[in-house]
Amino acid sequence: MNMQLRPMRTDEWGPVAELIYDSTNAWYVANGRSAIFTGPKSHCELFCQVYEALDRECCVVAEDFDTGRLAGSCFYHPRETHVSLGIMNVHPDCFGQGIARRLLAHITDYADGVGKPVRLVSSAVNLDSFSLYSRAGFVPRIVFQDMLLAVPEDGLAIEPPPGADRVREATPDDAIAMADLEMRLVGIRREKDYRYFLANADGIWHASVIEGQGGAIEGFLVSVAHPGSHMVGPGVVAAEAQAAALIHAELSRHRGFTPVWLVPSACADLVQTMYAWGARNCELHFAQCRGAWPEPTGIVLPTFMPETG
Ligand SMILES: CC(C)(COP(=O)(O)OP(=O)(O)OC[C@H]1O[C@@H](n2cnc3c(N)ncnc32)[C@H](O)[C@@H]1OP(=O)(O)O)[C@@H](O)C(=O)NCCC(=O)NCCS
Repeated sequence: MNMQLRPMRTDEWGPVAELIYDSTNAWYVANGRSAIFTGPKSHCELFCQVYEALDRECCVVAEDFDTGRLAGSCFYHPRETHVSLGIMNVHPDCFGQGIARRLLAHITDYADGVGKPVRLVSSAVNLDSFSLYSRAGFVPRIVFQDMLLAVPEDGLAIEPPPGADRVREATPDDAIAMADLEMRLVGIRREKDYRYFLANADGIWHASVIEGQGGAIEGFLVSVAHPGSHMVGPGVVAAEAQAAALIHAELSRHRGFTPVWLVPSACADLVQTMYAWGARNCELHFAQCRGAWPEPTGIVLPTFMPETG
């Protein structure tokens, strides 16, 4: 294909949303699974809205020169310690033509230029995307299981777990402590993200923190409530029991919906707690990194909205 890579224009949120919707659903249906997006295509504009608010002009699109159509798109965001890669999509008519490889190279070239590793969370059941990232030098580092649970209209009928009394709503003043905690436990920093969630200009974010005995923050968890996405994460926490208390608090914000969240499969106690609550597995994902990987000493609870590594 005769194509050019360029930043997404602001008048292209509609076509990019349509591309994300068509590409993702086509891949999953063709591979014997249910469509991921079930609402109107316009709900996928949430990706443009969030990523552009975080980092303007960090969505790269592949435009077919001959037809003017968008053949692919990928979001990325430069962070203090790394570059994160967000949702990657190629139009189903163009699968297997090397378009994703070129979009990815655009972003890894940028990251190499600024000397930072690239991090992402990719599906473990999607061999096409696994192969794309593996060939480009990404290494899977953490296995997550995606879990979902229908939260009744009248709230969770689950006893708040131990530590729930130390959970409180986060405020904008917590942003630096949250970023510092992630740096200490996971080795990455993204203070701008936390300022953005806590400012909550769109009215779709909520965050909880858990405090230790001395009042210092020992964990936090964000969630998004939008017609296009009910996801819990991102979060970072020191211990599994604290993770359960934070997940309980954020799930409680999604009455009448079925939020999805990711739990590290190695956290056996946390996983069993989620099953005891009635949660079910719906997919598997890998944390992937191309370049330096500081081994986390805490628990990572990532999300796709915005995709975090
Ligand atoms: C995953 C997706 C982005 C791939 O896009 P694509 O344009 O078809 O991918 P490409 O043609 O660039 O192929 C990627 C690479 O994987 C390689 N590849 C594919 N299957 C492979 C396999 N089984 N083993 C090894 N390599 C394989 C290809 O050869 C290619 O590498 P090369 O160009 O060096 O030969 C596309 O299928 C898509 O949009 N799917 C739906 C949305 C999605 O899943 N996004 C990813 C979210 S994590």
